[in-house]
Amino acid sequence: MKTDFLIIGSGIAGLSYAYKIAEHFYQRNQIVNVTIITKVNEDEGNTKYAQGGIAAVTKENDSFINHINDTLIAGDGLCNEKVVQMVVESAPERIKELISWGTNFDKKTDGDFDLAKEGGHSDNRILHFKDYTGNEIERALIERVSNHPYITVLNHHFAIDIITQHHLGEKVTHSSINKKCFGAYVLNRKTNTVFTLNAKITLLATGGIGQAYLNTTNPTVATGDGIAMAYRAKALIQNMEFVQFHPTALYHPIDNPSFLISEAVRGAGGILRDEKGVAFMGNYDVRKDLAPRDIVARAIDAEMKLSGNHFVYLDTTMMEKSFLESHFPTIFSKCLSIGIDMTKDFVPVVPAAHYLCGGIAVDINAKTSIHNLYASGECSFTGLHGANRLASNSLIEALVFSHRAFLEGISLFSSIDFNTSIPEWNDEGTYYQNEKILVSQTKKELQTILSNYVGIVRSNERLERALNRLKLIYEESERLYENSKISVDICELRNLRSVAYLVTKAAAERKNNVGLHYNVDNF
Ligand code: FAD
Ligand code: SIN
Repeated sequence: MKTDFLIIGSGIAGLSYAYKIAEHFYQRNQIVNVTIITKVNEDEGNTKYAQGGIAAVTKENDSFINHINDTLIAGDGLCNEKVVQMVVESAPERIKELISWGTNFDKKTDGDFDLAKEGGHSDNRILHFKDYTGNEIERALIERVSNHPYITVLNHHFAIDIITQHHLGEKVTHSSINKKCFGAYVLNRKTNTVFTLNAKITLLATGGIGQAYLNTTNPTVATGDGIAMAYRAKALIQNMEFVQFHPTALYHPIDNPSFLISEAVRGAGGILRDEKGVAFMGNYDVRKDLAPRDIVARAIDAEMKLSGNHFVYLDTTMMEKSFLESHFPTIFSKCLSIGIDMTKDFVPVVPAAHYLCGGIAVDINAKTSIHNLYASGECSFTGLHGANRLASNSLIEALVFSHRAFLEGISLFSSIDFNTSIPEWNDEGTYYQNEKILVSQTKKELQTILSNYVGIVRSNERLERALNRLKLIYEESERLYENSKISVDICELRNLRSVAYLVTKAAAERKNNVGLHYNVDNF
């Protein structure tokens, strides 16, 4: 199968890019094929679950400088300042575009946006739609994309590997300078067949890695596939040690994913308390409950270690029922469904793996180190977040970088030809009927290793243990992959183990504590 533009992933990064490309050529009566593949239903991914909102300077008494400074402070010295400035200054334009595509954001009675505040922001600047902003954005984008004559959405299609010269029999190394991407090998989950999707330009928009941990706010599709594919293709991957733990996931041990209690709840006055009801954040930071996430998550981790409990409490009892119901309807009803009345009861919360600040390294136009391969959204490393992402800066990052990838894509497209010598997927091998337990148990082991040894607080010994254990997992999962009939479970395990290795190796190599990376043996 051939397509001019291949987009892997249907969250905010993939859908906004696909729509812009298709619409651009449609307006000029120039026919192009834009194909989106996505591994389950098109709405599933981190975007749908985003609660708090999307950060941008939209009111007069806020300023770009303030948003830039807040982003730099959260990033703890490791942000790329040029990128920060570019994203912050582009954000209002991208928000306008999102609204023109049909996305709703809450407004006050005077018609101005009802802007929320989250940790690390010096002002109220988060546009939101109640507490299900991501779902609203995803709804509007899917509506645009599904009605577009140039766009084909293939759901339940899983990208196994991106195709490079390696598949044509050439040796490709990290230092090869002329690596090119020619599309991807794709598994149709309904027919269980693999086919070649030959593309001129490919965008990886595959989202996060949360499922590498036992407790995560990310849905089950977040297995780091794009990063692992890019890594196998010898693309540059960076800053993988910076895994952000959201301080306040609802404590409910059997939920996967963990349900998020938005930071906007603390922005509205919610207070973290220990088991005796004492507010503790003042002991850790002058910004108290609205300190950046790395600080709040580490404080909660320390409190849990002190008390031996599995959670701390979030107190929202000072808020009116009507306020909670209108601003946080999803959170309010989820809590009620498990017997917690937020107007009377404290909510048990615990940090959970939430967001990856590193990923596939891209330039200012979202181009990876491989020609014709772009990456946008959570799978990419742009330099915006540095060592720690400021709340609500990731949806906007995805929009801005997909826009820039679009601009470069439309200018380069006509100079790229299809590669006609790509071999079909080779599925020869000794298949044995492997027991599902081998895959699921290995995945659980990997998640346990990352959670226990490469979590919020790390040590040299934990990291060394993790690397040793992951080596064994690599060998076992490689044997499973080589000898089994191809399946999504096997491929996801193969991707998770690469991601786990990349996070652990980067953490072991970083010898200073900065942002989200905290090793007790560093100083
Ligand atoms: P996603 O939306 O995750 O989409 C990834 C897509 O790739 C999915 O469609 C998936 O199925 C597909 N995919 C993955 N691998 C493959 C494969 N091998 N083959 C085919 N398809 C594949 N950020 C904010 O800025 N504000 C917030 O308020 C906010 N709240 C959040 C709340 C929660 C609970 C979570 C989990 C995240 C939140 N974030 C928030 C982070 C933000 O939602 C994500 O970073 C962002 O949505 C990522 O968008 P994306 O397009 O990169 O990826
Ligand atoms: C939240 O609503 O707390 C999540 C915001 C984010 O991850 O940016």
